[in-house]
Amino acid sequence: MGRVEGKICIVTGAANGIGKATAQRLASEGGKIVATDIDKECQKTVDEIVDSGGEAIFLPHDVTKEKDWDMVIEQCSSRFGGLDVLINNAGVLLMKPLQETSLEEWNEIFRVNVTSIFLGTKFAFEPMCTRNGGSIVNLSSIYGLVGAPMAAAYEASKGAIRLFTKGAATEYAAHGIRVNSLHPGVIDTPMAEHLLEDTEIKNAVLGPTLLGRAGTADEIANAALYLASDESSFVVGTEMVVDGGYTCN
Ligand SMILES: NC(=O)c1ccc[n+]([C@@H]2O[C@H](COP(=O)([O-])OP(=O)(O)OC[C@H]3O[C@@H](n4cnc5c(N)ncnc54)[C@H](O)[C@@H]3O)[C@@H](O)[C@H]2O)c1
Repeated sequence: MGRVEGKICIVTGAANGIGKATAQRLASEGGKIVATDIDKECQKTVDEIVDSGGEAIFLPHDVTKEKDWDMVIEQCSSRFGGLDVLINNAGVLLMKPLQETSLEEWNEIFRVNVTSIFLGTKFAFEPMCTRNGGSIVNLSSIYGLVGAPMAAAYEASKGAIRLFTKGAATEYAAHGIRVNSLHPGVIDTPMAEHLLEDTEIKNAVLGPTLLGRAGTADEIANAALYLASDESSFVVGTEMVVDGGYTCN
């Protein structure tokens, strides 16, 4: 019996990095995976899961579009019978000094990182209610907890996710739906590639990390699995920090 056996799980941004690792980890523990992304490479995530004996489908999905959420939720219900787990993972990073950040860039990062999570959390409610509850995991960041230079817009978006999660948790708990945020430190994925390639930037971003290294996507997937599973049945509205000690002092 897997740790999320039979649970129907949407993972957004599942073509790469943390989303891909999380889709694979949930599948390895018996989850039925709806892997979504704007990147069609997401089909590869699904193929690998199916090749390993798991159950998964790919749906092209722009998380900023309401009509796409409508389609994804409808497919979940018609093909699997509802929804148990939503991993709101898709996101983008903007590394720029505040003075060089345009209003368009600010609005875009809020659309992709925050509006998407509002839409996903809103659309997940009904299908989770029909299954008598569920678990929503919203990907924030250490930069939703502390500041660092060159990322004020990103940090604002990740901070918004942190508090949106707590608000949603207070409304959804009575329906058996747990909403929590997950705060990775610096993780070795395509998003962080350019940071980790440059020695000077790498030393700066990893400096506060007590373990002295970047984390792996699998290390975040393990935390997402815990929050998705019934093992976290009393965990509601919390901030799960998985950062190698970055924020501990
Ligand atoms: N990598 C890190 O160091 C790190 C640290 C903290 C938090 N995070 C957060 O974790 C999440 C995953 O990050 P990652 O490192 O795996 O990133 P990644 O860039 O490797 O993967 C992100 C995925 O999201 C998809 N995506 C982007 N915009 C989308 C949209 N509009 N609709 C649907 N899909 C879209 C991309 O196609 C990509 O497959 C993000 O929310 C990110 O902010 C990452």
